[in-house]
Amino acid sequence: MPPLERAPDVDYEAVRGLLRTYEETFGSRDGLRCARAPGRVNLIGEHTDYNGGFVMPMAVDRDVRVFFRATERGPVRLWSENYGQWDEFDLDSIERNDRQGWSNYPRGVALALQDAGCTLQPIEGLVYGDVPIGAGLSSSAALEVATARAFCAAAGVQLDSKELARLCQRAENRFVGVNCGIMDQFVSIHAERERALLLDCRSLEHELLPLDTSAVRVVVCNTMVHHELGSSAYNERRARCEEAARMLNERVGGISQLRDVTPEMLAEHGRVLDKVTLKRARHVVSENRRTIMAAEALKARDYEAFGRLMDESHESLRRDFEVSCAELDLMVKLARQRSGVLGARMVGAGFGGCTVNLVRRDRADRVADGIRAAYLRATGIEPEVYQFLAVSGATVERC
Ligand code: GLA
Repeated sequence: MPPLERAPDVDYEAVRGLLRTYEETFGSRDGLRCARAPGRVNLIGEHTDYNGGFVMPMAVDRDVRVFFRATERGPVRLWSENYGQWDEFDLDSIERNDRQGWSNYPRGVALALQDAGCTLQPIEGLVYGDVPIGAGLSSSAALEVATARAFCAAAGVQLDSKELARLCQRAENRFVGVNCGIMDQFVSIHAERERALLLDCRSLEHELLPLDTSAVRVVVCNTMVHHELGSSAYNERRARCEEAARMLNERVGGISQLRDVTPEMLAEHGRVLDKVTLKRARHVVSENRRTIMAAEALKARDYEAFGRLMDESHESLRRDFEVSCAELDLMVKLARQRSGVLGARMVGAGFGGCTVNLVRRDRADRVADGIRAAYLRATGIEPEVYQFLAVSGATVERC
């Protein structure tokens, strides 16, 4: 179990080994800085961000760090400590690297920043992350935001934080090829300690809501499976939602995204959609409403109500949006059988990865151990179970 009261920013004692590696790799540590960006868990509001709707993630105490220095000339040189691989590229001719998937995040980010008019300088850096990869906890967004902050800091570029989130999203959409929304990048930048972040993904207005860790814990269970279907199904769901909005607009008018559709409107005009499209729309429209209600519940510290909304969210994702899978459903079921669990749902894009559970603080350890043992018994797979703290968003510090 990771220590619960870990300091939110970089603990330099713990990364001493990385600093030594940096020195051995690049010859010196003079002028070294560290850009860190956290992963996230979404409490509620799933598959709503690209529909202009509402989400409520928090940043978790797992992050990606880029230890970096600006260099006068030459290529960008990055060493990935996780993959044991080098990446080198020139800022004036950035292309995809199809041999090393991780390289495309820093490359895409550098290209997006330059396309937005930023003059960058080359950097040399060591990249290390402890956000579980492919688990629905946004290791990709953390890598994008950390490298973007490093490039900006190295070149003295000041960017509005919302613009930075948009550029990181654009890097993923255009360069990596996943048509994701803005949630992950936004929360990795704007999160605050002990707060959940309610975000209106259309206006980017956001509100930080207290998460009382003396009452509840956020327990995240990793199924350790990742079904390949993931990114093609994601882009397909997104296209289907856009199609639903277009057809409803023809009928009702004034609709540019599913965000503009209320449950009442869908009940009245939903018959213009085919059966599957109607189910997809029903998830998004109801999830937006649940997310707003969950924000009210959190403000009122009504964790039972919040938990019920999480349960409903899972059912909607399973039945209507059809992005769950047997392992996620099992993990949710095992959680709901335990006392102290207020709500349980799958998190992120789906088809594997993690579930998120809201658990009474005094039951959290027992619940975590119980789910771990039961999932192992049922599947033969040892799951990872985390109790995450809500931490602040990206920082750049001198080391
Ligand atoms: C992924 C995407 C996000 C969001 C979620 C689903 O994490 O990166 O933008 O769409 O899936 O809520």
